[in-house]
Amino acid sequence: MLWVQEDIYGPGFQCIAGGITMLEAMRRRRSIRKYRNEEVPEGDLKKILEAAMYAPSAWGAKPWHFVVVKDPELKEKLSKATPYAAHAAGAPVVIVLVADMKLAKRWIEDLSIAAAHIMLQAADLGYGTCFIQIRDSENEGRDAEEYVKKFLGIPEGYNVECMITVGKPAEQKAPHEEGEYMEERVHLDRW
Ligand SMILES: Cc1cc2nc3c(=O)[nH]c(=O)nc-3n(C[C@H](O)[C@H](O)[C@H](O)COP(=O)(O)O)c2cc1C
Repeated sequence: MLWVQEDIYGPGFQCIAGGITMLEAMRRRRSIRKYRNEEVPEGDLKKILEAAMYAPSAWGAKPWHFVVVKDPELKEKLSKATPYAAHAAGAPVVIVLVADMKLAKRWIEDLSIAAAHIMLQAADLGYGTCFIQIRDSENEGRDAEEYVKKFLGIPEGYNVECMITVGKPAEQKAPHEEGEYMEERVHLDRW
């Protein structure tokens, strides 16, 4: 699909869309927690991380670092970070989203938007993903962020927001539907 977006990018600028439209990628993105035992090729991983680094960030700080975890032992440890992280053990790749607190002004928002870019780019490439909350989480009284930082050697001055599992889906979920659009949640001019 080819279209021209001169208003945004200047005269004659043409965009070539990927396999699916943006809205379609958003509809197809579902939280996938079961994965096929297939590696994610480096080229695809690079595209997914590239998408993350195009995210907006407060004051353009780009405070993000991404720890790409493939080592089975480490993934097993990460899967114990919180009671809701079990699927990290079986995912081909776990991406841990980290903020450099020297750079960050709004690190939670910055990393959350980068996370959305990761999940949508991955969906466009046919991967399943799932966001796993790490910040402000715990497992049986043990702080999840400290736990993750310890195993991955993340130094002081860096905070962990979340992890995202990535892999070809081994479970099927229906895409989101147009019917989920809630007219009553949209307020024109005033509440
Ligand atoms: C901030 C946030 C935290 C989440 N934390 C977890 C988590 O720790 N573990 C998990 O399995 N899913 C987690 N999810 C995924 C949600 O459960 C999921 O997005 C929601 O149920 C809607 O389903 P969908 O993603 O398929 O549309 C999280 C999602 C968000 C946005």
